[in-house]
Amino acid sequence: MCGIVAYIGNKQAYPIVVKGLKRLEYRGYDSSGVALIDGNQLNIYKKKGKVSELEAIMADKPTTSTVGIGHTRWATHGEPNDRNAHPHFSNDHSLAIIHNGIIENYGAIKQNLLKKGHQFASDTDTEVLIHFIEEIRKETGENLEGAVRIALKEIVGAYAIVILDRDAPQQLIAARKGSPLVIGLGVDEFFFASDATPIIEYTKDVVYLDDYQVAMVRDNKLTISDLDNLPTIPYIQKLEMELATIEKGGYDHFMIKEIFEQPRSIADSMRGRLIASEGHLQLGGLENYMNKLAQADRIVIVACGTSWHAGLVAEYLFEELARINVEVEYASEFRYRNPVIGENDVVIAISQSGETADTLAAIELAKSKGATIFGVCNVVGSSIARATHAGAYTHAGPEIGVASTKAFTAQVTVLTQMAIAVARRKGALTEDTYRQLLIELETIPTKVQQVFEYADKIKEIAFIFTYARNFIYLGRGLNFPVALEGALKLKEISYIHAEGYPAAEMKHGPIALIDEDMPVVFLATKDGSYDKIVSNIQEVKARKGRVIAIITQGDTRIPGMVDFVIEVPQVHELLTPLVSVIPLQLLSYYIAVMRGRNVDQPRNLAKSVTVE
Ligand code: F6R
Repeated sequence: MCGIVAYIGNKQAYPIVVKGLKRLEYRGYDSSGVALIDGNQLNIYKKKGKVSELEAIMADKPTTSTVGIGHTRWATHGEPNDRNAHPHFSNDHSLAIIHNGIIENYGAIKQNLLKKGHQFASDTDTEVLIHFIEEIRKETGENLEGAVRIALKEIVGAYAIVILDRDAPQQLIAARKGSPLVIGLGVDEFFFASDATPIIEYTKDVVYLDDYQVAMVRDNKLTISDLDNLPTIPYIQKLEMELATIEKGGYDHFMIKEIFEQPRSIADSMRGRLIASEGHLQLGGLENYMNKLAQADRIVIVACGTSWHAGLVAEYLFEELARINVEVEYASEFRYRNPVIGENDVVIAISQSGETADTLAAIELAKSKGATIFGVCNVVGSSIARATHAGAYTHAGPEIGVASTKAFTAQVTVLTQMAIAVARRKGALTEDTYRQLLIELETIPTKVQQVFEYADKIKEIAFIFTYARNFIYLGRGLNFPVALEGALKLKEISYIHAEGYPAAEMKHGPIALIDEDMPVVFLATKDGSYDKIVSNIQEVKARKGRVIAIITQGDTRIPGMVDFVIEVPQVHELLTPLVSVIPLQLLSYYIAVMRGRNVDQPRNLAKSVTVE
């Protein structure tokens, strides 16, 4: 949800900033821009569209500046066009700002500034913020840093900002609340970015800025302080990410690379935690809280989108294995109710990015009511990871395709491990079942690899349905969340309307949609509800629906009834989602490619949703 990059040092800033913007394009790609200094002139260049459009207009522009800021946008206030692209100038054009987030009370501030003669060149909340800072500096006589502090105390909303001052080119000022900001520390140079991907090839030493902190680089020195100007010592962390993990590595898209990475990412989410041969399962980050989890009256899972689907899978697992009552909530709904929640409840927040605003707000609400909060996040050091009492990282590696794939399977793998570990702690599992589950879980990466053998067949099916206008996905039990996930994947990257439903609910309404033009994807693996699913398939076939069934290898019954089958290997019933989701990811990927969609950066979406 908007990406920001800034550089100050002894190299030319523009190539570093623009390369960083390309890395952050997954966060937003409506428009982009940079601000650079040329002599005593502060210049802003910006363009609607992708970063490549910006590059095209930069060809004949002065780019020798050794300080620069850049932004790639996902529009919140104001339509995506050149005017609303960031950076934005102050009224006198001496300051430029980039901003990721949303200023909620910008309307009232703007009215005030208009009365004082400010003129605005865009419809954005961000431009109001930099004018506000400028006005405070003028009215109070404070230096820029002081004015920033005063302004940030007044505004309501979320922000990660970096400000460049024409009259102080040896300085950058940054601040955050609610939106991520990482500072890279090189030799005589500093980098600012929404995540570490623009920084990684220059330095591994980073500082994650905290909420309400202001960072200033001046004369080659970094200082961090709070909004009251109390300094803190920067906590320098080492990045563990490798450059190769954020490049396409020969694949056409990040999404397909990430789909094919799943055998490894699933294994990584178990590495050091699970050794089946030794009956060992331990999630280090949760170890001190296992009793709390085992004794919980209730587990409330909060998440959004694909992560919410992983939560639905976890509901089945915790209830089945550990016999703990689980509720799965959309974070966006939970945060605005007055949920009944108390000290004996455990909340699990699931988030790939660790930055989703609604999930973060749900955590704060549950915390205020005394609940213990665990995080299941992919991005190390992210806001959600830091806001929770404890947690387990998914270790799927950077996920850059906007449609989540490997993060989902890693979330499910971690949640499965949690459910097994808690069930064992509660004494709810026999030793045999416990050992069996560990053995089966350890085989999942190999089983996922086997699904890829069907990639060409899935491509052929995708070709047949490339121009379908609608799809229905049906599943029962643990395959119901997979049906939801399959439908979501198709919608978001191919723009085909798709619905996921519990298969048995079909006859309560959606069955009216079935005719010879309606493709219906059935999750029909061999599990406890197999016979029921077979009946549901017959109901669809009787109405001439075209059925694609995901079945267990060796099933001889379903192939004769349906139009297409895709086989997945037999796994322990409780682990089914980890293999049954893979063909659905591939199907939506191939359909989207065949429709000529921008798979990695689908329209209107952003990877990290830092606004509510
Ligand atoms: C779908 C997708 C989104 C995210 C949702 C939550 O492919 O990626 O639905 O799952 O925006 O994001 P996180 O997991 O980062 O909190």
